[in-house]
Amino acid sequence: MSSIDTQIAASTELIEPSVLKNGKTYYIESYGCQMNVSDSEIVASVLNKNGFSPIQEYEQADIIFLNTCSIREKAEQTVRNRIKQFNQLKKKKKGLMIGVLGCMAERLKTKLLEEEKLVDLVAGPDVYRDLPNMISEVEGGQKAVNVLLSRDETYADISPIRLSSNGVTAFVSIMRGCDNMCSFCVVPFTRGRERSRSTESILEEVKMLVADGFKEVTLLGQNVDSYRWSEDPKMKGLKLIENKYAPDVVNFSRLLEKVAQVHPQLRVRFSTSHPKDMTDDVLEIMVKYPNICNYIHLPLQSGSSSCLERMNRTYDRDWYLDRIEAIKRIIPNCAISADIIAGFCGETEEEHLDTLSMMEYVKYGTSYMYYYSERPGTLAAKRYVDDVPEETKKRRLQEIVDLQNKHSLERNQEQIGKRQIVLIEWTAKKSKEQLLGRTDSNKKVIVDKGNLNLGDYIEVEIVDCNSNTLFGNVIRKISSEEAIILS
Ligand code: SAH
Ligand code: SF4
Ligand code: F3S
Repeated sequence: MSSIDTQIAASTELIEPSVLKNGKTYYIESYGCQMNVSDSEIVASVLNKNGFSPIQEYEQADIIFLNTCSIREKAEQTVRNRIKQFNQLKKKKKGLMIGVLGCMAERLKTKLLEEEKLVDLVAGPDVYRDLPNMISEVEGGQKAVNVLLSRDETYADISPIRLSSNGVTAFVSIMRGCDNMCSFCVVPFTRGRERSRSTESILEEVKMLVADGFKEVTLLGQNVDSYRWSEDPKMKGLKLIENKYAPDVVNFSRLLEKVAQVHPQLRVRFSTSHPKDMTDDVLEIMVKYPNICNYIHLPLQSGSSSCLERMNRTYDRDWYLDRIEAIKRIIPNCAISADIIAGFCGETEEEHLDTLSMMEYVKYGTSYMYYYSERPGTLAAKRYVDDVPEETKKRRLQEIVDLQNKHSLERNQEQIGKRQIVLIEWTAKKSKEQLLGRTDSNKKVIVDKGNLNLGDYIEVEIVDCNSNTLFGNVIRKISSEEAIILS
């Protein structure tokens, strides 16, 4: 197989047949998780195929889309503030259309139109194929709402348009929805039932990305470990859990292996793993293929078994610890990160201390930390009282953040003086003369630009760090082949 460095990039025209432009432009902004970033690329594909053109400056757009998130109240507030800004523009610019997509659209449905009078279109995450019709409805003077959730929509046949892509790293959705019903979480309500995308369509997309010169893919799902696909029509729509090890069922470890085999120099990541489902066979595939990155995001939520039970996470502290031990045993140098919630309903000081002690034990490289925000309609909202006072939530969150910062700094300091392999992904935010890349273990590294380009692999010596970022001196540029071997 040719090296990924020398592969001839297919032109995007080959992927997107030329369509007659309708002269209308759209601007799209994504909030929330990586899944929304990926969905915006589906939206772009649907719109481009129907003659619309993407545009970078919202002031010039005919249609403004916000692809929204409902995970916490603050996430929704951010979107509402942004809608207000766009409303100001709409007052000046006749005919400007404002569309709300994604999780807030799904959660609030027509209520969103009542509350945000200048919004014209509300589309849930499973109806993006219908957007061209919805836009026509609005042009005909109506408001358009479609929030149908589907049991089988996976957008499998749509080639995403890589909006604001760096041409180096890409997200590939492997499943949609979530059946887990964690009591705090709105996602099962906004994203619907869990469904896996066909293995073939995932592999096709990954091959296309390789042909286009991409160097890294991240497989996305709310719970990637419950990926199940079978070509057997009898299995379609069935929960394939019983048949997890049946030869004709592609489970997550099998999918991961197939993706890793697409090209030996394509870096492969995935997110999110659920502790209840993460099996040793996934870890074994990670070890077997050097191009699968040694990094696992394994949300903890709480270190206390009683709190985890109220959260309906279906694992306890011992189970989580067992999964950490399995990672350490099978992939000794694997980096681990977590999501943690402070101040969930009924959380006692002792339960909070259990979370801190778990953090002490694992010493995560990074964590995404939040205080609990009640979401209407969730199990927790129905069953429990949001009774931890705000100042206690904030204080506990601060303790979690402080401890994580300490651990992140310690983990980063361990790297000083060491050599690392970095894939260059972006120009650094603070200076055009610097570039940002990541190591196999997902650590961010800043280096001087010199004559490097996005997509280059380099060997660096780590010379400095803070809790968030490593700073490196470039030793040399290396081939993808060598990078994967050395990582
Ligand atoms: N599917 C992923 C998480 C998706 S949501 C998983 O199961 O791990 C991302 C994170 O947001 C969650 O892991 C959780 O830590 C946080 N979160 C979800 N609902 C929340 C809420 N109501 N309040 C605060 N944080 C929340
Ligand atoms: Fe939400 Fe739990 Fe599903 Fe994650 S696994 S999306 S936290 S319900
Ligand atoms: Fe937010 Fe929806 Fe993702 S609620 S976190 S955008 S799945």
